[in-house]
Amino acid sequence: MSDPLTTRKPEPFVMVVFGASGDLTRRKLIPAIFQLWCQNHLPESAAIIGYSRSEKTDESFRAELCDSIRDSLKCQQHIIDDAAWETFASRIFYQRGAYDSPEDFAALGQRIKTLNVERNVPGNCMHYLATPPTAFADIITNLNSAGLARKGQSDPWSRIVIEKPFGTDLQSALELNRIAREAFDEEQIFRIDHYLGKETVQNIMVLRLANSIFEHLWCHDYIDHIQITAAESLGVGSRGGYYDKSGALRDMVQNHLMHLLCLVAMEPPVTLTADAIRDEKVKVLRSLRPISQQCAANGVVRAQYTLGEIDGQETPGYLQADNVPEDSNTETFVAFKAHVDNWRWSGVPFYLRTGKALPRRCTEISIHFEPIPQILFNRPPAGPLRPNVLTIRVQPDEGIALEFQAKAPGPAMNIKPLEMDFGYRESFGQAPPEAYQRLLLDAAVGDATLFTRSDEVQAAWEFVTPVIEGCACEANNVLQYPAGSWGPKEADELIEADGKQWRLK
Ligand code: BG6
Repeated sequence: MSDPLTTRKPEPFVMVVFGASGDLTRRKLIPAIFQLWCQNHLPESAAIIGYSRSEKTDESFRAELCDSIRDSLKCQQHIIDDAAWETFASRIFYQRGAYDSPEDFAALGQRIKTLNVERNVPGNCMHYLATPPTAFADIITNLNSAGLARKGQSDPWSRIVIEKPFGTDLQSALELNRIAREAFDEEQIFRIDHYLGKETVQNIMVLRLANSIFEHLWCHDYIDHIQITAAESLGVGSRGGYYDKSGALRDMVQNHLMHLLCLVAMEPPVTLTADAIRDEKVKVLRSLRPISQQCAANGVVRAQYTLGEIDGQETPGYLQADNVPEDSNTETFVAFKAHVDNWRWSGVPFYLRTGKALPRRCTEISIHFEPIPQILFNRPPAGPLRPNVLTIRVQPDEGIALEFQAKAPGPAMNIKPLEMDFGYRESFGQAPPEAYQRLLLDAAVGDATLFTRSDEVQAAWEFVTPVIEGCACEANNVLQYPAGSWGPKEADELIEADGKQWRLK
């Protein structure tokens, strides 16, 4: 994998953020770039242009960002350094423009040129699409016509970072890929999925391949099953309009959960280059046993949260959220069983689950090893003993734990399950950095390892699209669960039918 954050500095570049007035820009992107700046990871001459339709000046844009950056960094328990912010803010500019106007893109091109001269930037440019996805095609096409895409040129470089969702189904993803590839080479396109920037997600490969004890056991001979849960305690909040057209399958499964699954299930890559790693991830996606449209309605548990309580607070149901139609069938929870049909994983089920308005925020991957033979300790009275479980806590309380059996002190043979636990905060003295920091820096240095390649996005949609289509045919199959519960009972039945239980419950 690429070098650690500390040793890399990109060449001078201008970053254009499309969707400058949006939530993502204010809450995630600018705070992450500011942190990179404060940690001296950005070149002195770097400049940022915010582009959106609203009327603003450079000054009013900076003032707006200053307010939101204070909020955002406070949430992460950082204190803003006023002097550093002033210096950084003088590198932020604003350009008003529409996404479908070639004239406005020509004006943007002029502004970039002027900045390049003023700030001595050699012409490198990173275009970041933080707009609603409906604007992606127009922006890409206009970047191309304005000569800002520069396909086939690497010096100075031009790159495009495309936020998720990358398409809404297989067809739309293929179309977006086609449009992007017409303007840019694949090497210039960075399809972002912020899960890949999480330290704990990057650590999956290190855990497996930098230790001698795990990889030999990492197969159907020793692993009984694997669980992946991405639970959120928040509901959809003010994002009802977007979310209702998306649902958990598009919003979380097609991207974040598929990446987690790939990193756990992939073969060791031949080298640590971006393409070698992504080759192996694509093979996993291609080995997934298809869930046909016909099976989707029965094999996939979809549900919506209703009125309930989270942390002692009454939480209204999904249908009460703003901009959600009262007869919506969109799922806020999904659970299903997947099979990776290759040699390594033959017969090992992967249980995946994600949902909003669950009891707590917690994303984890648990590897459940085979039970030991039912002899010696594993017979009554001590047995049956709980099989070993390796848990990768993606967030929060980032860490890794291995559950094993030990004798409790005393004259009797009492055996108890215990945990060896590694926590990021305790071991490294701080919480892992925000995912966007790592990803923005990677895009700026041109390292695509933690970004999704076109064939990866396509393969993920090939798996998920029939599921979405099958569920849509059976609109009535959306179950309900009270906010603050772990989903509908059918999700428990799904795994219990195989004689197993969800680890988080
Ligand atoms: C986003 C989804 O991609 O990921 C959101 O659109 C979701 O609906 C979010 O809440 C979860 O990210 P994280 O990092 O909080 O797990």
